[in-house]
Amino acid sequence: MKTVRDLAALREAVGGARREARRVGFIPTMGALHDGHLSLVRRAKSECGFVVVSIFVNPLQFAAGEDFDRYPRRLEVDAAVLESAGADLLYAPVPANFYPPGFSTSVDVADVSDGGEGAARPGHFRGVATVVAKLFLQVGPDAAYFGRKDLQQTAVIRRMVRDLDFPLRVVIAETVREADGLAMSSRNVYLSGEQRTRAAALSRALFHARDRAAAGQTDPRALEDETRRELEAAGLSVDYVEAIEAGSMARADRASPGIALAAAVRVGKTRLLDNVVLEERKTP
Ligand code: PAF
Repeated sequence: MKTVRDLAALREAVGGARREARRVGFIPTMGALHDGHLSLVRRAKSECGFVVVSIFVNPLQFAAGEDFDRYPRRLEVDAAVLESAGADLLYAPVPANFYPPGFSTSVDVADVSDGGEGAARPGHFRGVATVVAKLFLQVGPDAAYFGRKDLQQTAVIRRMVRDLDFPLRVVIAETVREADGLAMSSRNVYLSGEQRTRAAALSRALFHARDRAAAGQTDPRALEDETRRELEAAGLSVDYVEAIEAGSMARADRASPGIALAAAVRVGKTRLLDNVVLEERKTP
């Protein structure tokens, strides 16, 4: 696996793959890679001949006072695990070159960006959409891979790709979880031992809600309230619990199969996200 740090070298490497008629799969990341990222790499590798992974901690998507400065950065370790997962090219742009002085363009995906994370973190999805649009233009992939854990991010990117006619396929892969259900996230490293134990209540409460919906609870507000109470009882501070229609991010008016229940909680200073998709009622 080759590592490149600038656009000219990226274009040369991707151009080489194109000349060999290899399809290009792309996974944008901010590094601190875990098995969730690596499963995206393996999926991309099984569908595309050439897999590009970017690592760039994007300042535009962090507000003042968030964890931009302490976000884990470990390029060498990440490069080694990417190589073993089968990635062909690591693109790790130098921040000062990526956003040149005077950079003033942004991509705003209205509507899907507004609720949930967008309301809790104003400007976050503008930063995400801007960096992902720029990376898509730089890499020029045939397919781009994202994890379902960041549900609203996937909705924002899908909408942007549709609205701006990016010529690529967006692939959303299932959330990869630890043995106790906690969704894998680069931010899990912030958790102390006690917080890590408490954090497992997030997926547990969402799974319980999914079971209640499958058993006949169709009122989305009741499902949200019950889940919020369970999270609070487990000592988690709840930012939101929302039953939403995953494509539009609109609040659901019925807790029916296909509706997502998404939650954000705080464990100490760490913010964790997760969601489940409601399923058909189980037949005994
Ligand atoms: O999900 C992430 O890690 C980031 O939001 C992304 C998509 C790499 C953009 O910086």
